[in-house]
Amino acid sequence: MNNNSYKFPEEFLWGGALAANQCEGAYNEGGRGLANVDLIPKGKNRFKAMEGKLESLNILADEYYPSHEAIDFYHKFREDIALFAEMGFKCLRISIAWSRIFPNGDDESPNEEGLKFYEEMFDEMLKNNIEPVVTICHFDMPITLIKKYGGWKNRALIGFYEKYTRTLFERYKEKVKYWMTFNEINMLLHLPFMGAGILFEEGENELQVKYQAAHNELVASALATKAAHEIIPGSMVGCMLAAGVTYPYSCNPNDIQRAIEKERENFFFIDVQSRGEYPGYAKRFLRDNNIEIHMEAGDGEILKTYTVDYIGFSYYSSRCASADPEVLKGMTAGNVFKSVRNPHLQVSEWGWQIDPKGLRITCNNLYDRYQKPLFIVENGLGAVDTVDGNGEINDYYRIEYLREHIKEMKEAVADGVNLIGYTPWGCIDLVSASTGEMKKRYGFIYVDKDNEGKGTLERKKKKSFYWYKDVISSNGEEL
Ligand code: BG6
Repeated sequence: MNNNSYKFPEEFLWGGALAANQCEGAYNEGGRGLANVDLIPKGKNRFKAMEGKLESLNILADEYYPSHEAIDFYHKFREDIALFAEMGFKCLRISIAWSRIFPNGDDESPNEEGLKFYEEMFDEMLKNNIEPVVTICHFDMPITLIKKYGGWKNRALIGFYEKYTRTLFERYKEKVKYWMTFNEINMLLHLPFMGAGILFEEGENELQVKYQAAHNELVASALATKAAHEIIPGSMVGCMLAAGVTYPYSCNPNDIQRAIEKERENFFFIDVQSRGEYPGYAKRFLRDNNIEIHMEAGDGEILKTYTVDYIGFSYYSSRCASADPEVLKGMTAGNVFKSVRNPHLQVSEWGWQIDPKGLRITCNNLYDRYQKPLFIVENGLGAVDTVDGNGEINDYYRIEYLREHIKEMKEAVADGVNLIGYTPWGCIDLVSASTGEMKKRYGFIYVDKDNEGKGTLERKKKKSFYWYKDVISSNGEEL
């Protein structure tokens, strides 16, 4: 049988993905409180800020903060959703800005204007037969939770998050079935301020702090799963992993061991969220690094009982690991994680390795490991697009990237993987998370705005818009 004989399931969720802080803008409208993401500037201080090395927790006059306006989805979501509907989207992944719902995070009651905003957005989606897929926390949190409590390093956050999630489930129980607790939960190890609102104090054991924050998030995620199942019968709650298989650079056993360790650094989170307990290798890692996680009575039970229903993950690239110091000199970029350069792969303009087959391998690995439905909630090519003399954008490179990845998804389905959906990242151009640029575009829809924040914000369909529309209407047969 060849590839053409295998089909995506009829109910496959084709769509696209966005995140509040990268598309909404309106950072100080509608009663929204200030969030960590509002303090991450574009330019040379961006990475420092994402890591938690900020000069101040205030907005600085000499910095440009791309999230403040982003693509103004806050005011334009109706016209944008109409374009998604025109492409035939079956679902749309968005995230809720925590500080629109609880402006300070520890408020007594939620902000009605914020709740109403998302209610209207969900209504707009449902009117267009688009199923909402909601990330509860996509890198953002109210700044007060950082100033007063120290972000996720403080166990008190579990309670605030639980209240936030229960509020969402109660309010949107008739409208939203698919939820994800934390976007790319493993990112907190790499970008602790963006991922978990962590600022390190002088002399603090950074690993200890990060793993404590991870534990707090894991318990919070399990409690959210519990709450969703109680409040919304039939709801599906997923975890979300920044995934990508790690290949050993060679068949040297030291490279194999290194690749396994690198994979486990990420699997740790999902092993807890999906299997319900700390795996043996994680206990060893914590012991070897003198990390002592403060756990309270009942935590183990909570983690064990309230595991996720599906595995959501992003895939942009595979990674490569080596134990050889010479090989380690050849590193390349990629979704924050640096990787050894794989000589068999091409890279994007931003140095991210392009590996469609790695998606099939990642799907198989995740499915073999967890035996739960998989949802690819991010994938795509960040590239420079140009509007030609006729006002058209011929992004054939994006089509090629997506086509090759979808072919491999089909292979994974043929391998027996239970794949439920695909939401390519940044289905409309938005602010890049790693660089803060607009120039790094992922969308099927172009947004007229540049790196300095200039532009009309006008939307334009790219060539990939029409291509993806055909992909969806043929359920992945016409590529
Ligand atoms: C993922 C994030 O890490 O990758 C998104 O969940 C992000 O928020 C995406 O935008 C692509 O990364 P970048 O840096 O190209 O925007």
